[in-house]
Amino acid sequence: MKVMPDNFLWGASHSAYQYEGAAQEDGKKLSQMDVNNYNTGFSDASVASDGYHRFREDIALMKECGFTAHRFSFSWSRVFPDGVGNVNPEGIQFYDEFIDELLKNGIEPLPTLYHYDMPMALVDKYGGWIDRQSVDDFTAYAKFMINRYKDKIKHWITVNEQSIIVEFWTKKNYIPEEYLQNPQIKYQINHHMNLAQAKACKLVHELVKDGKAGAAIGYSPIYGLDSSPKNMLAMLNAEDLKNHFFLDIYFKGQYPKGAMSYLKEKNIAPTILEGDMDVIKEGYSDFLGVNYYASKCVKYPDESLTEIIDAKSNLSGKKGDMGAYELMPDFYQYLKNPRAETNDWDWTVDPTGMEYLLRDIYQRYEIPMIITENGYGAHDVLTEDERVHDDYRIDYWKTHLKSVYCAMELGVEVFGFLPWSFVDVLSTSNGYNKRYGMVYVNREDKELLDLKRIKKDSFYWYQNVIKTRGACLFEE
Ligand code: BG6
Repeated sequence: MKVMPDNFLWGASHSAYQYEGAAQEDGKKLSQMDVNNYNTGFSDASVASDGYHRFREDIALMKECGFTAHRFSFSWSRVFPDGVGNVNPEGIQFYDEFIDELLKNGIEPLPTLYHYDMPMALVDKYGGWIDRQSVDDFTAYAKFMINRYKDKIKHWITVNEQSIIVEFWTKKNYIPEEYLQNPQIKYQINHHMNLAQAKACKLVHELVKDGKAGAAIGYSPIYGLDSSPKNMLAMLNAEDLKNHFFLDIYFKGQYPKGAMSYLKEKNIAPTILEGDMDVIKEGYSDFLGVNYYASKCVKYPDESLTEIIDAKSNLSGKKGDMGAYELMPDFYQYLKNPRAETNDWDWTVDPTGMEYLLRDIYQRYEIPMIITENGYGAHDVLTEDERVHDDYRIDYWKTHLKSVYCAMELGVEVFGFLPWSFVDVLSTSNGYNKRYGMVYVNREDKELLDLKRIKKDSFYWYQNVIKTRGACLFEE
């Protein structure tokens, strides 16, 4: 019978600012994501899913579903409201209680130290990740958290989605006005994060007995539009800059040479100080968290005038910043994959991409992986009898999980599946109009309602998957 291994971790994921709410309660101060979300036109993060007040109820539901693990993130500005200095006792008490509640219910906590939410105090002080001081301040915060929970937590996720932070740099960072025209900043921010995440990995190795550390990367396999040699070259270029640029750092301790030469030629490479690469090498990663939603497609850029203009504005960060149709002059150009299906939000639905990326990454680095995000954003409908028939989400997870299984059959090490998300959380781009959860949160985007939790069809489906360790995926 096809089943996942006994010790395979089953659960889901959320991040602090998208789940907790209580954005300025009990001593917490604002993070850059609290502030960025005030201007999206969608709901902000002030209440979100109200997890700060309802986490016990949510964890009881996780237990009912059969979870053995759960990924969440710490809010830096709940613990250190000013980013540095005094610890907020009520903030840390919240995480003490959250972690103890998971453990009491037999659920392994997998925290992420950083999920987009730099304390606003540090953005105001020196621009956040733009300044190298952020590395030391992050390290001090990470050291405090790792020490506090070193006896309770084995797997530590350092930074969420550096790849997405670079691609959507003005959305995932609060960038002061004067830097908006300077695309070098996004690679500099990323370099500081590389140092910070390496230091956090090293701290886990030093402080946690048998501790394991790694980042969670937002990863899309990149396909060439067709078999034309130029388009295949564009695929290699994009793989180098969008994927290896991050994974080579985590697992080889270096930047890929091709991508770095390209950035240098365009004058947008990060400044690297003496000793930086040693710090990065020392802070090696033990595993990779994979956040997979959709694959991407590229072609070699045409040299038409329009595209050159587009490319210039893209590099200056003004236009094309949404990334979906990103164009890097002389390197690659994203485009819609004519052979792939998309969801309501124009994201490719590509379950084969899951097997492809797991095998590809494993061939390159031979490291253990855990799926730290995977999910289907949709306009869910709550029926009058309080049900949500999200068969599209079940279908998405079913086909993606089967792909994980296929990769594992070929020897790829995957030790867990933590999809996005358990309860509905605030979408980074579309508030509560776009839902991912297997448990419905009764609120509208702008109206709070009673925030009641309602199990969707996908909850019952996932419960059975966990119970049968995946065997039911292959029935029928
Ligand atoms: C991942 C992020 O990139 O995608 C999550 O880690 C995010 O924070 C998820 O919610 C889905 O993206 P969105 O924009 O649809 O919420």
